[in-house]
Amino acid sequence: MSVLHQLKTSFEEQVQRAQNLNDIESLRVSILGKKGTLTEEMKSLGSLSPEERKSRGGELNTLKDHILSLLEEKERHFEDKELNEKLASETIDISLPPRPEMEGKIHPISQAIDECIAIFGEMGFTLREGPDIESDFHNFSALNIPAEHPARAEQDTFYLPGQGQDPLVLRTHTSPVQIRTMLKEKPPLRIICPGRVYRSDYDATHSPMFHQIEGLVIDKSTHMGHLKGCLEEFLRRFFGDPDLQVRFRPGYFPFTEPSAEVDVLWKSGNGDSKWLEILGCGMVHPNVLKNCEIDPQEYQGFAFGMGIERIAMLKYGIDDLRLFFDSDLRWLQNYGFGNYERSLIS
Ligand code: PHE
Repeated sequence: MSVLHQLKTSFEEQVQRAQNLNDIESLRVSILGKKGTLTEEMKSLGSLSPEERKSRGGELNTLKDHILSLLEEKERHFEDKELNEKLASETIDISLPPRPEMEGKIHPISQAIDECIAIFGEMGFTLREGPDIESDFHNFSALNIPAEHPARAEQDTFYLPGQGQDPLVLRTHTSPVQIRTMLKEKPPLRIICPGRVYRSDYDATHSPMFHQIEGLVIDKSTHMGHLKGCLEEFLRRFFGDPDLQVRFRPGYFPFTEPSAEVDVLWKSGNGDSKWLEILGCGMVHPNVLKNCEIDPQEYQGFAFGMGIERIAMLKYGIDDLRLFFDSDLRWLQNYGFGNYERSLIS
């Protein structure tokens, strides 16, 4: 048997005996490494005659390729084996019950605001927002509520520290947004302004922070009939009752004249019904228009404002306002809204 043939057989046996990837690596070093058996054979070619070198060189190269492919094949075999063992030991038991997962819910206040926006949106109103921290001017003076006016006390205002000519307050209503809009934009206007408002008051029907939505329409021939029609339509759609009875009573607000309070006839489960006050409204006072550089001889309009908590409590059957802001996840799971109800809004 030739030396080369012996080498070949011995290499093949060694590869055959390899047990793992480490063995393969050591074999690669012992055969083909710097001092490997085959490498030494290659080095010895230098001492041969050119003729012999050529034929033996060719044979050695063939042997090298052969050994390399054997090593590679064996290496792949061990890699596959390792992967299969790993997969087998890590199988997932699909019969296990899934871990309970909590689905997020939309807060009823957000839901109610979105429903209002959708209904007024279809009536052609667009959305405006303003800051929670307001100047006395936007929250009171421009709305025809001068200093010492009793309405300031009635609204239980939170004043921010540092008093000047125009102190800062936490806005007591969303009406300053109508002032900001009239100062910035030209009529005709048809806007709604939802947002947080603040008053120093706390019991089952009052929270120091709550939400209002304000509406404002300014045009050349807007009148009280438009106001009535708009609010009746809104209330019937919001409460989902085309026959809902709506009542307008005379009221007073410094920023509207005439002013009205609006009630709905609410039917409770046992067949009883009673009038519930829902919102305030009126024709925008000429002084307010003047304060916003709008000529009351040319333009007039109406405004309304209502508490979101109040209409949400009625519509969704929630009886304590404080629950809205307790951040109790069990409450939110029960009273919150999922994707299905959301899809009904638009
Ligand atoms: N801003 C009033 C309030 O907070 C509500 C209102 C708005 C009344 C617009 C009339 C017109 O009570």
